[in-house]
Amino acid sequence: MSRSVLIEKIIAEHQTRLSPHLIQLFFVTISETLVTKVLNNVPHDPQVSPIVRAVVGDHAADEALHSVYFRGLFPILWQSLASYEQEEMGQLLPQLIWAFLGSDRQLEYSILRRLGFNANDSEGILEEVYVPSQIAKFVRRTANPTLKMFAAAGVFDDRTIEQVFADYELI
Ligand SMILES: [Fe+2]
Repeated sequence: MSRSVLIEKIIAEHQTRLSPHLIQLFFVTISETLVTKVLNNVPHDPQVSPIVRAVVGDHAADEALHSVYFRGLFPILWQSLASYEQEEMGQLLPQLIWAFLGSDRQLEYSILRRLGFNANDSEGILEEVYVPSQIAKFVRRTANPTLKMFAAAGVFDDRTIEQVFADYELI
């Protein structure tokens, strides 16, 4: 399932209890506090051509500002929720993290097919590359700044929410 379809699905499943805009705002907050870490490696990678490094470096500087903004916004946003909304949203946050950081198999499959691999080989390659335990480790490590932000805002004070994060292998 592609990333945008996944988000639409999450919104559709919860929109009777949470506003779609609110879910989108939390998704943006997550993506904006995660993305810098991904971008930060490329500008220092000697294997990448200098022009690409410079462009990505500019982008990373921009994203650093977004990250500061959303880091400031999150605790205010969280505190503004009614307790039933915190309960609902808290259970959704791990899914939003996975939607952003988990692999987009459909996209990668279509890239492999376009590179000339047949259906069987493409499936085989994805099977080999995506070892579930390693993906979970990657997602947990990459989500670390966002998870720390959640902890600081008191998201894990609720044991039910904390347990959902554990079920999704994020803590
Ligand atoms: Fe951004």
